[in-house]
Amino acid sequence: MSPSTLSVISHPLIRHKLSYLRDKTTPTKLFKELVEEITMLMTYEVTRGLEEEVVTIETPLEEMRAQRIRGKKLAVVPILRAGLGMVEGVLGLVPGARVGHVGLYRNEETLEPVDYYAKVPKGASARDFLLLDPMLATGGSASAAVAYLKRQNVGSVRFMCLVAAPEGAERMAIDHPDVPVYAAALDRQLNEKGYILPGLGDAGDRLFGTR
Ligand code: PRP
Ligand code: URA
Repeated sequence: MSPSTLSVISHPLIRHKLSYLRDKTTPTKLFKELVEEITMLMTYEVTRGLEEEVVTIETPLEEMRAQRIRGKKLAVVPILRAGLGMVEGVLGLVPGARVGHVGLYRNEETLEPVDYYAKVPKGASARDFLLLDPMLATGGSASAAVAYLKRQNVGSVRFMCLVAAPEGAERMAIDHPDVPVYAAALDRQLNEKGYILPGLGDAGDRLFGTR
C-alpha cells in the first residue's frame, strides 16, 4: 500500500448536499446546482496551501502590509464532460482563474481513458493547476490528465473530485505521489463495470441529462 495522497474534506454542509447528489430521484437541475455548491465548499479547503506574498497597501487611514496570493492566476482544468459541472464552483471563489480543458472518456470495455482534446492556459509553468472531475473510479482518467499537465510543465497540480473509490485513490498515489487528491467522500469499492459503489451513478449523464 503506498502512502495516501488523499484528503477527504468532510463538513456537515458537504455531507448533506452529497446525500441529495447521490439520491437517484434528484433531477438534473438540482444535480447540477449541488455539484457546483459542493465544489465551492471544497475549494475553500483545497486552496488553503496556496502561496502568498506580502504587499504594501494603503487603507483610508494608513499604510499596511497585507497578504495576497502569489504568482500568476490559478488555472482550473475540468476533465470533460463531467468536470465541467465543477468549474463555476471554483470560479465562484477564484473568479480570476484561467480555464483549460482536458477531453477524456473511458472505453466502456477496457475502462482505459481515450483522449480527444486538451488545452491549457498560457504560462502554465508559472501557474498552480486545479484539475477537476467529480468521479475518481479506477483512476485511469485522472492519472492520464495529470500526466498530460505534467508534460505541459505546469507549476503544480491538485486533483479535486467529489466521490473517490479506494482503487482510484491508490492508483493516484502510485502514479502521482506528488499530487494531492481531494474528495468529498471515499466510497467502498468499484463494481465489475468500474462504477463506484455506493457512488452516484454516471456523473456526466446525470449532469447533462443524457440518459
Ligand atoms: C467518467 C468520470 C471520469 C471517469 C472516471 O467519465 O467523469 O472522467 O469516468 O473513471 P476512471 O477513474 O475509471 O477513469 P466518462 O468516461 O464517463 O466520460 P464523460 O464524462 O464524457 O461521460
Ligand atoms: N464514472 C462515473 O461517472 N461514475 C462512476 O461511478 C464511475 C465512473
